[in-house]
Amino acid sequence: MAEVPIITIDGPSGSGKGTIARRVADALGWHLLDSGALYRLVAHAGHLRGLHPADEPGHARLAETLDASFETTADGGERVLLDGRDVTAAIRTEACGGGASRVAAMPAVRAALLERQRAFARPPGLVADGRDMGTVVFPGAALKIFLTASAEERARRRYKQLKDKGSSASLAALSLEIAERDRRDASRPISPLRPADDAVIVDSTSMSVDAVVARVLELADQARLAAH
Ligand code: DC
Repeated sequence: MAEVPIITIDGPSGSGKGTIARRVADALGWHLLDSGALYRLVAHAGHLRGLHPADEPGHARLAETLDASFETTADGGERVLLDGRDVTAAIRTEACGGGASRVAAMPAVRAALLERQRAFARPPGLVADGRDMGTVVFPGAALKIFLTASAEERARRRYKQLKDKGSSASLAALSLEIAERDRRDASRPISPLRPADDAVIVDSTSMSVDAVVARVLELADQARLAAH
């Protein structure tokens, strides 16, 4: 069977990966893997079951057995289901993001999610967004993007996102949380956040979403990935 073409989009929290990955997947008609949602689901399921936050084997078992599914909503957004129940909003909270970052530092959880993530690679292609898509999960991907933006800009974007959803948020608290999560994600011994050697770095600090999508599609074209 011909290899499934894969574009990986890695980068820190708030760099816009999720939005960009979805738009690129839509433009190409490819599947999407939101790997961060898997880590969020493990943290959320652990919380629901009353697991201790440091219980690595318990969270790894959850990662293996998780009944997770992803749907696209009528407005093109993502709906995430856990055991058939809609948990989209629950897993997007900052608290769940913090929990996800902690379970993501557990080697047994990462190992348990590896094959589950690779199973998303199906024809005609996959856009995979996360932290280690290009370095660990899909090292053979045809195009690897490392999307970044300044910490201030990322905090500002997250603040706007939360406000738009009607959640209360403090810009100062978000900046601290983002800096702390960056530090944890980049300094963990297993699969730390770093660009793959062959990744193209795209700094989106002063770029619009449209401009970043256009840049990624242009790179896909150059890599002869886009059949459009
Ligand atoms: O992208 P996100 O904010 O939904 O990710 C939630 C957490 O999961 C984040 O702190 C880092 C972690 N994560 C990871 O370690 N590896 C991935 N491939 C995706 C996310």
